[in-house]
Amino acid sequence: SVTTDIPETSPDKLLAPVLSAFWDEPESWTLSTYLRHDGYQGLKKALAMPPDDVIAYVKDSGLRGRGGAGFPTGMKWQFIPQGDGKPHYLVVNADESEPGTCKDIPLLFANPHSLIEGIVIACHAIRSNHAFIYLRGEVVPVLRRLHEAVREAYAAGYLGKNVQGSGFDLELTVHAGAGAYICGEETALLDSLEGRRGQPRLRPPFPAVEGLYACPTVVNNVESIASVPAIMHRGKDWFKSMGSEKSPGFTLYSLSGHVANPGQYEAPLGITLRQLLAMGGGMRPGHRLKFWTPGGSSTPLFTDEHLDVPLDYEGVGAAGSMLGTKALQCFDETTCVVRAVTRWTEFYAHESCGKCTPCREGTYWLVQLMRDFEAGKASMSDIDKITDIADNINGKAFCALGDGAAAPIFSSVKHFRAEYEAHVTGKGCPFDHNKSTLWA
Ligand code: NAI
Repeated sequence: SVTTDIPETSPDKLLAPVLSAFWDEPESWTLSTYLRHDGYQGLKKALAMPPDDVIAYVKDSGLRGRGGAGFPTGMKWQFIPQGDGKPHYLVVNADESEPGTCKDIPLLFANPHSLIEGIVIACHAIRSNHAFIYLRGEVVPVLRRLHEAVREAYAAGYLGKNVQGSGFDLELTVHAGAGAYICGEETALLDSLEGRRGQPRLRPPFPAVEGLYACPTVVNNVESIASVPAIMHRGKDWFKSMGSEKSPGFTLYSLSGHVANPGQYEAPLGITLRQLLAMGGGMRPGHRLKFWTPGGSSTPLFTDEHLDVPLDYEGVGAAGSMLGTKALQCFDETTCVVRAVTRWTEFYAHESCGKCTPCREGTYWLVQLMRDFEAGKASMSDIDKITDIADNINGKAFCALGDGAAAPIFSSVKHFRAEYEAHVTGKGCPFDHNKSTLWA
């Protein structure tokens, strides 16, 4: 379900949906539907501007990367050296895999041309003649739809030689990954795209300096690039009129878990979970929120005390977590936090690429200890042991996967230490897991 009504509490932030405006229309993914909704108008404006002016415009809009880190998009484009004689590349990270995150894949499925238009604008800006979309391999129906949209864009002259008579040439390649979480890390993604095993590279050099085939490369998230056409068409001031000063604009939130109506919700940055839950019909009937993730499982957990935290980069950061991918996984009082964290830890151990010792060994040992809590074999000192292991991963791993694995451990012990203790004293889990299933 796509809901864009903002509850009365924020009348100043009323917003017509942008990215999800016509997802419910029949054949929303076709070029003709996109053109009916002002499609490729932003490109028209951008092609009439010098590339540097497009970069400055996007920078002034305040758009920040929607892949999780919130890095300013225009600034990233500006890092691409000019006049260096090397090819420049744009690589769109469509390898969305963060647990709970489900916004880029639905966006690509329902409205692929917003991404393609954004790609052409971005490539014009950074003077790139070849862009790549690295898509998560499991989503075959999305892959087919994307291929079809790219074919339509070539046929209509939005891609290929002399785009819309502007003299600008652009090739676009769609590449399907093979289902490894680590390939969503930008440098592992580049290795994978080059045909190697996907493992992170040391940064710096950042991709902007040395990326694909050792050439300057912008790696951007799907939603970041898909937001650019509307900014160009409707204006940066319109974009800045939404959200907060340092986190402007609209965005897609993924609401999931024990909620009445899970799905993608488009709203301004800075909305709160309380407001989003009001849009989504609240928690499932008869239950209350116990804990939630602001941005997927890699971001520290929040509890019901954080319902009014503004969901923008500053607000979530000040409250002790990260906005990340805006994947709001909500769990009610029937859920054992130890069990939820165990499942996530198993995921990180399975997806660790094994390149660095803290992540490879640390996630393995965390899984053993977390399983001990569930099996009633843990002792009180194991609570400190898991935080100690997490501490030896956090900030010491090669890439952000390690920090992501540590986040649920730290935050669950901080907010729910008593629940870990109950697993020790009660020699096992005090919860009836059947009650927490969504299908019960
Ligand atoms: P980061 O903060 O290290 O980098 C963010 C971006 O800014 C990168 O593209 C990087 O190249 C660029 N950048 C940073 N400093 C730079 C500099 N000095 N010069 C040039 N470019 C620079 O974050 P990272 O490690 O890329 O991503 C971590 C985030 O990914 C987390 O916040 C997490 O939420 C998110 N994530 C998203 C997933 C998804 O499925 N969308 C999966 C897992 C994590």
